Amino acid sequence: MRTSSLLSSILAVASTATAYSYAKHINYTVVTDIFQQDDAATNASTFDFIASNFGLINQTYLSDPSCPDRKQSTQWQRLAHYISTLNKQAPRNERYTLFFMGRHGEGYHNAAETFFGTPAWNCYWSELDGNGTVTWADAKLTATGVQQAQRVNRFWAHLIKDEKITPPETYYTSPLCRCLDTARLTFTGLDLPRRSPFVPVIKELLREGISAHTCDRRSTRSYIQANFPSYRFEKGFPENDPHWTELRAEPQKDQDNRSKVVLDDIFTNDGSTIISITSHSGEIASLLRVLGHRVFSLSTGAAIPVLVKATALNGDGPATTTLPYTPQKTCATPPTIRDSSCNDCSCCT
Ligand SMILES: *[C@@H]1O[C@H](CO)[C@@H](O)[C@H](O)[C@H]1NC(C)=O
Ligand SMILES: *[C@@H]1O[C@H](CO)[C@@H](O)[C@H](O)[C@H]1NC(C)=O
Ligand SMILES: *[C@@H]1O[C@H](CO)[C@@H](O)[C@H](O)[C@H]1NC(C)=O
Ligand SMILES: *[C@@H]1O[C@H](CO)[C@@H](O)[C@H](O)[C@H]1NC(C)=O
Ligand SMILES: *[C@@H]1O[C@H](CO)[C@@H](O)[C@H](O)[C@H]1NC(C)=O
Repeated sequence: MRTSSLLSSILAVASTATAYSYAKHINYTVVTDIFQQDDAATNASTFDFIASNFGLINQTYLSDPSCPDRKQSTQWQRLAHYISTLNKQAPRNERYTLFFMGRHGEGYHNAAETFFGTPAWNCYWSELDGNGTVTWADAKLTATGVQQAQRVNRFWAHLIKDEKITPPETYYTSPLCRCLDTARLTFTGLDLPRRSPFVPVIKELLREGISAHTCDRRSTRSYIQANFPSYRFEKGFPENDPHWTELRAEPQKDQDNRSKVVLDDIFTNDGSTIISITSHSGEIASLLRVLGHRVFSLSTGAAIPVLVKATALNGDGPATTTLPYTPQKTCATPPTIRDSSCNDCSCCT
């Protein structure tokens, strides 16, 4: 079960259950009480995942007695054994997967928003490619963003060496430069198992929520290929950005729909138990909504672990509705106020 994909589970359901022809829906639940971030009492704005062992709660698991060398085992080793036990004991349509979701380090668009103030950023500057000094279209990491990713890299090195964590078996990333670079800085130079090297797959639907901001428009496939030659593209990844639309924004419903689509795709095609995703604040928030996790905002460079139970069901899932992209208002000249309550450009003057 551990290495078989959910697709084979779906097929197993189909072949044993004559009443149904195939599973139509994958239902997600978060297994709570594993990480402090699962708990409503943990304050996301002050929580330090590096200082707190990724939030892993010290405890005994029901599977501890069968854990090899359990007296010498770390909490991470016993967690790996627990997840593997859950998977062995699970019905064939059920699977447990541990995700590490990392937000990119600070990009030039983040720094520019702070510099100009949110109203002027949203209503004027963000729609431009840059200001002549700095470019924020498909923003690169600032020096601070690079340092944030390097800090997470040192944290992973410590987790692997001292905490005996099992590193991710597969890596996915958003196609936006700040994530491609964050993933590279985070996972390069680690002592990774030979069978699961850092070869990330670029997935279109892991991109940030799409707005009129040029930081949400991706570069061409050729550009990405030239700058990240060791990365793989998912099947059908087109040369040009098919989604970004001038002065239009993706509604949250649409974003949550595509977050479900990309999770279903990962669960259907990837049998890994430990999966890394490098993405954005808005997109990780959407993935967490789809998985049924509590709201947990990540600052730039922060990451969150989530243990997910996926169940392949034969019935229809809830109907998906989406909306047309909404027009976004802008101002002809930058608003002068800095009050961040002005988000609809009502402060244009
Ligand atoms: C589907 O997931 C939700 C939480 O996301 C859970 O409450 C519900 O019990 C699950 N249903 C099935 C049939 O697994
Ligand atoms: C979380 O911490 C922030 C910063 O210290 C504080 O302003 C906020 O009130 C806290 N939230 C809760 C729910 O305690
Ligand atoms: C969890 O256990 C580790 C190692 O046994 C210890 O260093 C750490 O302080 C414990 N954390 C908490 C929150 O008790
Ligand atoms: C352009 O924006 C950056 C902030 O991102 C700022 O540091 C720089 O001074 C600005 N350049 C000009 C010419 O205003
Ligand atoms: C959900 O998102 C996928 C991927 O972008 C898209 O192909 C599909 O049409 C969307 N579903 C609805 C109901 O809009």
